[in-house]
Amino acid sequence: MPDSRNPDLPPPGPGQSVETAGSAASGAGAHRPWWADAVVYEVYPRSFADADGDGEGDLAGVRAKLPYLEALGVDAIWVAPWFPSPMADGGYDVSDYRDIDPRYGTLEDATTLIAEAGERGIRTIIDMVANHTSDQHPWFQAALAAPEGSPERARYLFLEGKGPDGSEPPNNWISAFGGPAWSRTTNPDGSPGQWYMHMFAPEQPDLNWDNEQVQQDFDDILRFWFDRGVDGIRVDAAPAFFKTPGYPDADYGGDLRFLAAAWVGNPHWDVDEVHGILKRWRRVGDEYDGDRVFVAEAVVNGAERLGLYLARDEMHTAFNFEFLKASWDPGLRRIIDDTLEVLAPVGSPPTWVLGSHDETRLATRYGRARTGALHLSDGQGSPTDLRLGTRRLRAAALLMLALPGGAYIYQGDELGLPDVEDIPDHLLQDPMWLRSGHTIRGRDGCRVPVPWSGDAPPFGFSPDGAATEPWLPQPAAWAGLTVEAQDADPDSVLWLHRHALRLRRENAGFHTEAFSWRDSAPEVLDFERGPGLRCVLNLSGAPVELGTDWDVLLSSVPLEAGALPHDATAWLKARPS
Ligand code: GLC
Repeated sequence: MPDSRNPDLPPPGPGQSVETAGSAASGAGAHRPWWADAVVYEVYPRSFADADGDGEGDLAGVRAKLPYLEALGVDAIWVAPWFPSPMADGGYDVSDYRDIDPRYGTLEDATTLIAEAGERGIRTIIDMVANHTSDQHPWFQAALAAPEGSPERARYLFLEGKGPDGSEPPNNWISAFGGPAWSRTTNPDGSPGQWYMHMFAPEQPDLNWDNEQVQQDFDDILRFWFDRGVDGIRVDAAPAFFKTPGYPDADYGGDLRFLAAAWVGNPHWDVDEVHGILKRWRRVGDEYDGDRVFVAEAVVNGAERLGLYLARDEMHTAFNFEFLKASWDPGLRRIIDDTLEVLAPVGSPPTWVLGSHDETRLATRYGRARTGALHLSDGQGSPTDLRLGTRRLRAAALLMLALPGGAYIYQGDELGLPDVEDIPDHLLQDPMWLRSGHTIRGRDGCRVPVPWSGDAPPFGFSPDGAATEPWLPQPAAWAGLTVEAQDADPDSVLWLHRHALRLRRENAGFHTEAFSWRDSAPEVLDFERGPGLRCVLNLSGAPVELGTDWDVLLSSVPLEAGALPHDATAWLKARPS
């Protein structure tokens, strides 16, 4: 159990006071940065709330729902990309980093949103997609128009093809969305030209992060947003930024799926030089006061590799994908231990994440025979017991919110929304669907617009009488899952989250690093957060006695004859003696 600081820790680097190091901040009087234990709510703007009735969410919609978020009790929002985008990958294909997509509103709407959220005590984290741009970005258009070897092309990864006529890709790298990571260009005279690299869709050409111009431009883009008041940056696809020079073939061991969490020594993922780039970003952030946070999206092989992103002069925190992808079984204990053990010495508070706009909704995943997910397509379409999935989701939420560090809630998970698995094929928009030859349906099922009220679509997502339907169809069965319906039901998933977040705020033990396991059977995760505050998750088939010295603060389902039933979590407080 990691309960002490590593005595070999180097002194804080420039711009990094001891006070801003997450786990250094629990001593008496120490300044604990807000992000050390923040609950962050992911807003996927296209699907959150549509104020103007065009069937897609917008920033006015987010502003209108700030009272809801404040009442829920979150500390921050992370807004998925809001920049102008041709939407080849749901906004993760950016054509201008200094503006807002017109479908979402204006730059002024964004600064107003940041300010209004701040007035309610809600910080704003934005999503910086810098591994790649859109192919419609003026930089890429200029590169296509410029000759081989030009500075415009040097911003991206353009290479000659292999084979006598250059008709084969420069190497064997695969794209995260299926197929090769290379596409060939066409010269102005119509002849085939160089190839360019794209770790994701062909509409998302990778930038060349070895290029000083690229580095400088992003320094300025980060400043642009910090100047507008954002409190943090999510670094999209951080391990992809740097590619091994010479671009050698990758050894995928015969499995051509994009299994980033399993790769070791891959030449286009988690290459060590990426850390130089991220440290540079950190130096830009450190120019600003107010505990600005960088959180890395870094799917890498194990907690040790992840720890490298969290060096004192690099990212403040990173998403914990091991926890996110984990099966619903006692193996969770090991993942919690690994996370705490690796992060304590580097001084970074853990994050706990259960869902996002990239993952199968929890209620669905936890209701299947296979509850873990290494790859997005794992389990897609298999039989699902939604009742069991929802029960587990409730238990998982209380586990996550009791662990030391920050937590992330993806919009709609606080309602227990299931994945929508029957979106008609012709409406699917995720590039994975097309790129996998229509074998992987992709992530649209977790991106269906949030149901707010009423008993029929659009469930208050769009205003009454809006002419345009939501961009992805909502199931009629969601009538019972709307915010309005759950608000009226004290046993709803929504109220469970509201109660949990309020108790988390009120109980000081949750705002320390204190964590210790209590003796229990291996199928029971039983831990204390400082003296007198305890969390028990029952993953065994049998009920678990909780002892007589404890009062129940909250439980994910009612106790049965004083015992905690299966697939349930309880928060307990020691009874005053
Ligand atoms: C990240 C995003 C995902 C996107 C990808 C490419 O993984 O979360 O939605 O498709 O990066 O930018």
